[in-house]
Amino acid sequence: MKIGILTGGGDCPGLNPAIRAVVKKSVKLGHQAVGFRDGWKGLIELNYKDLDSEAVSGILHLGGTILGTSRTNPFAKEGGSQKVIENIKKAGIDVLVAIGGDDTLGVAHKLYGLGINTIGIPKTIDNDLSATDFTFGFDSAVNIVMNALDNLHSTAESHHRVLVVEVMGRHAGWIATYGGLAGGADHILIPEKPFTTDEVCDSINRRHDRGKTFSIIVVAEGAVLSESEKVMTKGAKTDAFGHVMLGGIGKFLCEEIEKRTGFETRDVVLGHLQRGGSPTAYDRILATRYGIAAVDLIQKKDFGKMVALRGNQIVAVSLEEGIKRAKTVDMDLYEIAQTFFG
Ligand code: F6P
Repeated sequence: MKIGILTGGGDCPGLNPAIRAVVKKSVKLGHQAVGFRDGWKGLIELNYKDLDSEAVSGILHLGGTILGTSRTNPFAKEGGSQKVIENIKKAGIDVLVAIGGDDTLGVAHKLYGLGINTIGIPKTIDNDLSATDFTFGFDSAVNIVMNALDNLHSTAESHHRVLVVEVMGRHAGWIATYGGLAGGADHILIPEKPFTTDEVCDSINRRHDRGKTFSIIVVAEGAVLSESEKVMTKGAKTDAFGHVMLGGIGKFLCEEIEKRTGFETRDVVLGHLQRGGSPTAYDRILATRYGIAAVDLIQKKDFGKMVALRGNQIVAVSLEEGIKRAKTVDMDLYEIAQTFFG
């Protein structure tokens, strides 16, 4: 069979290990693999390259994606989906492996409905797909946040400052919760739990009343102020999937905390640092297992599926189930984090 591979949406550590696994296993089974450049854009423009074992050698430890990525949505472009289908046929692709988050997998699901054989592999640093326990990229991002918090502790303590650390997490605060727990945050704010500036200041004041002279606050970019019930954005521009660019909640909080508590406060935006660098061992192994499982599905001609992690087992779910619901933070876990607030 001729297998097409693409990576779509925001990049994350683990994409290369997944590509490597799909290609190496496919080649071993006598299939041919090609990689489309820059996500769905490569299919619209028929831009692809052959991927043999040599092409994916030495990429296991590399961040990003050797195929490139984009947030192209063929269904949002005039004639885009027809072009994709036409080009799949032109390139002689028998099955397409789409590695991405809900947007990329949503396109794969729609194409499957239009008669194209697709398989999905879930990735995103946000870990917000409900059909799988974990997406790869998440563990690497959490480790980056944890290391940043470790570093920020010493400077916050030396200067007796409050540090507000803004992390990614659009609708789900998984990175903030896991990163904050691992890095010992003194307060964590997530999209799932609207908050007031007063409650954050009270928490900081309680800590300082106990004799502490510094605090670290972790806030997800999508955290919602209950006063305004709005997320903070960088303008109204949206991407091809209708997402606005988030950001600004850290800066806002920084100014408000300093004004209301009198403690010197600084803000740090971790931004795309969270998506870069080498994948952790956990993400390399998860991505590899997903890649192998995707090829197992191809062998069985079991298309329209997404590989997923349930417990420690890799299973297959329908793409429809894979994208159905966003997975938000488990409140039991957030309660554990709350034990350490204030
Ligand atoms: O891929 C998901 C994500 O990392 C979100 O957490 C974040 O809001 C977004 O991507 C940022 O996207 P971009 O790379 O387009 O700035």
